[in-house]
Amino acid sequence: MSKYYISASILSANLANLGQDVQNVINAGADMIHFDVMDNNYVPNLTFGPVVCESLIKYGIMSPVDVHLMVEPVDDLIVKFAEAGASFISIHPEATKHLDRSLQLIRNKGCKAGLAFNPSTPLTCLKYVIDKIDMILIMSVNPGFANQEFIPSVLSKIKEAGDIITKSGRKILLEVDGGIKEHNIKKASVAGADTFVIGSGIFKTDNYKETIKNIRSNLE
Ligand code: DX5
Ligand code: ZN
Repeated sequence: MSKYYISASILSANLANLGQDVQNVINAGADMIHFDVMDNNYVPNLTFGPVVCESLIKYGIMSPVDVHLMVEPVDDLIVKFAEAGASFISIHPEATKHLDRSLQLIRNKGCKAGLAFNPSTPLTCLKYVIDKIDMILIMSVNPGFANQEFIPSVLSKIKEAGDIITKSGRKILLEVDGGIKEHNIKKASVAGADTFVIGSGIFKTDNYKETIKNIRSNLE
């Protein structure tokens, strides 16, 4: 793997000064902004909608926005986030009645499509939609909250997803989300992940640049 991507999860950012904090993490070396959308229905928490995504882009954030929809249903918000400037939109298979249609909608709206799997959700549906996705997002915590413990059994699932990608011959990012810190990122990369969502592991540290530098050196 020639390149690893760091997607900084703004759930742990300074929300009272979001634009500047996001710019700081980009300046410190993050590749993307991970934007966790929670609806107090699919997950027991509530976060931000498309207007916040649009505001960040208007503020001047140029890096790709990696939207993770933890909402049910998904289709209306897919359209709104695409219009708000999202680059990636990931959805959970349980959250839509017609997965194939929702994935097509993401692509038709000009975004890259991601499929997100909770720790106990099997990867079976990938067999049928692999040609319609650009990213597989493996949750390494149960969705809904920042700063939870990484679930180690997910490592074998990352490997399983990596094998499915290799077999498909397609260019699909393998993203891991939840509990990733400097000390365990290497395990996730050895298992096959190339894209790492990191929230508290960056935003709750004093020096983002130093943290991202350490993270990258641990990946080598
Ligand atoms: C959890 C979210 C994650 C979260 C990760 O539901 O999907 O993206 O922000 O936060 P950390 O890195 O603190 O575990
Ligand atoms: Zn997320």
